[in-house]
Amino acid sequence: MTNLQIFLDIATEAALSAGVILQDYLGKVEDAITEKGRPGDLVTAADKASEKVILEILNRHFPQHSILAEESGKLGNQDNEYLWAIDPLDGTTNYAHQYPCFAVSIGLFINGVSQVGVIYDPFHNELFRAAAGLGATRNRRPIKVSQTNELSKSLLTTGFAYDRRETSDNNYAEFCHLTHLTQGVRRGGSASLDLAYVACGRVDGYWERGIAPWDIAAGIILLAEAGGKITAYDNSPFQIDSGRILATNGYIHNELSQELIKVSPLSAW
Ligand code: IPD
Ligand code: CA
Ligand code: CA
Ligand code: CA
Repeated sequence: MTNLQIFLDIATEAALSAGVILQDYLGKVEDAITEKGRPGDLVTAADKASEKVILEILNRHFPQHSILAEESGKLGNQDNEYLWAIDPLDGTTNYAHQYPCFAVSIGLFINGVSQVGVIYDPFHNELFRAAAGLGATRNRRPIKVSQTNELSKSLLTTGFAYDRRETSDNNYAEFCHLTHLTQGVRRGGSASLDLAYVACGRVDGYWERGIAPWDIAAGIILLAEAGGKITAYDNSPFQIDSGRILATNGYIHNELSQELIKVSPLSAW
């Protein structure tokens, strides 16, 4: 078994264990929901319990690896060859309202490149997995992106960062513009599932600003292995720390990029 397969299997074990916790806590966290400084930026007991079990499993198997986890922050040297990026509950707002769109996301960067990704939606029991060169799957069956090749025939998804009230660079202009040019734009509320849905062809493209590495670490390798394309808004190479992502099936990429940069402030490219 290759190292990548081992990493993928342990990440799967961690994501499935975390998923059990999310299902157990669902509807029972009302007394344990707090805001993390910004209005609407919630954290629940489930986020913390999920992260705890993921950290335990990864630390047990890979004590030499480093971790970047949404709720615990930077654990170990962030320049380590192996860096796990963990979102223990992606879609916390949905989860707190029992809106069934949330997931566990676990990605592994090897020398700064996302190489392993697992996204698990426990409510629908959907497990998305990928590793570099090993393909992308949903519930162990291969997936690939859609073939939609015109923006006017596409369905997109996007998101809005928690600081949207304080900044004019809030994605509202892009959302309106693209709503008129496409068959629709969805706001799922879980960035990892947004990427997973592009990867399996349910939507044709996704863009967002204000995104963190743990939101997308797993999704970017999943989408790459499913045949998709990821860049900055202006089609230049994607930078994980830029906070901005344009991810599509590849066929609508140029068209979507051109429309995004028409309405997006220069700083957002
Ligand atoms: C959020 C979700 C949401 C996205 C936000 C993220 P969280 O993650 O992925 O879809 O729009 O930017 O922060 O806080 O629920 O893990
Ligand atoms: Ca997230
Ligand atoms: Ca989260
Ligand atoms: Ca959060």
